[in-house]
Amino acid sequence: MPMNIAIDGPVGAGKSSIADQVAERLNILHLDTGAMYRAFGLHALRSGVDMASEAALSALAEGVDVQVRYENGAQRTLLFGEDVSELIRTGEVSAAASAVSKWPAVRRRMVRAQQEMARTADMLIDGRDIGTVVLKDSPCKIFLTAQAEERARRRYLQQMAKGDTTPYEQVLRELNARDEQDMNRKTDPLRRAQDAVLVDSTNMTQEETVEAIVRIVEEVYGKQ
Ligand code: DC
Repeated sequence: MPMNIAIDGPVGAGKSSIADQVAERLNILHLDTGAMYRAFGLHALRSGVDMASEAALSALAEGVDVQVRYENGAQRTLLFGEDVSELIRTGEVSAAASAVSKWPAVRRRMVRAQQEMARTADMLIDGRDIGTVVLKDSPCKIFLTAQAEERARRRYLQQMAKGDTTPYEQVLRELNARDEQDMNRKTDPLRRAQDAVLVDSTNMTQEETVEAIVRIVEEVYGKQ
């Protein structure tokens, strides 16, 4: 049985960067499942389908080709063979990913692909439904969160560093809107699995958060 670790949490909890560092420490792969929903969201935007139409998005999900590859340990996300890893990081694609991910047919397709990958290698997987659905039998689940204002502050500073001048209030508003949507959809909403360990990073540095998660993993799987 491969070592499979689940990390879930809301927008901007630092899942991706923390998960990257934890995976590096443990020398295992990190699968960012949000990137797969983002790639599908980009496909939906490009196709011009109605984001509120379950029928249109289910049909689109049937024919989509989203794949993940690793280059020197880093995830690359491919849409019909095109590397879209950078293109999927815009605000427009974030909103599209959240909108398309509520439809069951879209989720089924992505979940199946994620479970297939998890079977092949030791992997740390982050997303919204990893502990509750994708790796529901995993013995090692973490729910990583922080207060919304702190998550928005971190995201705001990150974006500023990249030259994006979106005001803090807007970042907070968009973050809350996406959380609302992700927590209140009918299919596999974001929630903490009963057996997930809660890590609240509001008052923790990145290093402390990584340390805390590595310790949780070691308690389950032993020292790596
Ligand atoms: O983790 P992220 O912000 O890159 O995810 C983008 C969107 O994709 C998120 O708003 C909800 C959706 N998502 C999901 O529904 N299930 C997952 N396992 C991962 C992401």
